[in-house]
Amino acid sequence: MSGERHWPTLDDVRALDAADTLGTCRDRFALPDGVIYLDGNSLGALPRASAARIAQTVTREWGGDLIASWNKHGWIDAPARLGARIAPLIGAAADEVIVADSTSANLFKLIVAACQARPGRSMILTEPGNFPTDLYIAQGVATTLPGRQVSAAADIVAAIDGDTAVVVLTHVHYKTGAMRDMHAITAAAHAAGALMLWDLSHSVGAVEVDLEGCGADLAVGCGYKYLNGGPGAPAFLYVARALHGTLASPMTGWMGHAAPFDFGDDYAPADGMKRFLCGTPPIIGMAALDAGLDTFDSVAMADVVAKSRALSELLIAGIDARCPGLTMASPRDAAMRGSHVSVAHPNAWEICQALIARGVIGDFRAPDVLRLGLTPLYTRFEDVWQAVEIIADVLARETWRDPAYAVRAAVT
Ligand SMILES: Cc1ncc(COP(=O)(O)O)c(C=O)c1O
Repeated sequence: MSGERHWPTLDDVRALDAADTLGTCRDRFALPDGVIYLDGNSLGALPRASAARIAQTVTREWGGDLIASWNKHGWIDAPARLGARIAPLIGAAADEVIVADSTSANLFKLIVAACQARPGRSMILTEPGNFPTDLYIAQGVATTLPGRQVSAAADIVAAIDGDTAVVVLTHVHYKTGAMRDMHAITAAAHAAGALMLWDLSHSVGAVEVDLEGCGADLAVGCGYKYLNGGPGAPAFLYVARALHGTLASPMTGWMGHAAPFDFGDDYAPADGMKRFLCGTPPIIGMAALDAGLDTFDSVAMADVVAKSRALSELLIAGIDARCPGLTMASPRDAAMRGSHVSVAHPNAWEICQALIARGVIGDFRAPDVLRLGLTPLYTRFEDVWQAVEIIADVLARETWRDPAYAVRAAVT
């Protein structure tokens, strides 16, 4: 395919940046000079306002008002307040989303809740190669609940049957960037009487998601990727309103109680999404996530989606035209792709390290994938163009062969 696609000039891509309706959003981030950051799908960049926002929570609220801050500064309502801010990004109503715990913990809560809502069915259905935590949590649920098992099927729709309790799928695949048809798969799950749980970790804030429109039952997602909430940011979960009151969380902590400050001995679930809270919310992390969500102020998701596609089309054109030796591992059809582009190469790890040394930050996923994330709020067309030129140079001159790049780090 090399050379088939048109590769624009630097002036061409600068014109695209000049015309970009989201161009000024980049000023909302404190990106280091000399770095082309293509890893916002793993850890979103630091918003400029985050440090002051966290400092305010720590110094003024925690330091000045101490425990009164739970009421005075609305700390206690932060999970629901932030959930309501995420809701419009995923096509949900404000009261259908809450921020809590990690994506992994939220998967546990919702897979158990779904299994218990489908008592006669044994199967938790997912796909091989799903993000490991989704598989591991499903396996953990199966060993915890009697009579449940996990099935991983490549053809999900064909595998859904009358024994399926819940289908657990990631909307945008972490490794390939492939995007699933949410409407079709949700409809197939429902036709068989199963519940549908979507992991939106690689979708929220980057691609179009319409949970209500496709009738999805359940969803979870990360706060630290495209939502820019900072490392280990609290995650979110969604339960369709029709299921509020029916589903119960297996993690029956006091913050999910109907009246936590009555301090009664017996658990009684709160109404609505609050029952999916467990322990005390991490307020400093919530403050950082709040600042991350501010980066979406006055931004139309349609513009984000359009720019994500345009950036990834440019990147794919550049890889085709300038980077022989890399194999496209993401769908070429933009409608079937999320906001990162993955390429395969036997030495993807070394290439990734050589790129980082040149200021192009992507990441590596074993065994052979280099991921390049496109974050519409701060990635410029020029960044993609420059990144392609640097990748082409690293490949042409084989600088990745430097033995220093062979050393594997703990986090890839
Ligand atoms: C699809 C998906 N789910 C879940 C997670 C992470 O979950 P947690 O925040 O619990 O580590 C990731 C992280 O990359 C992911 O890609």
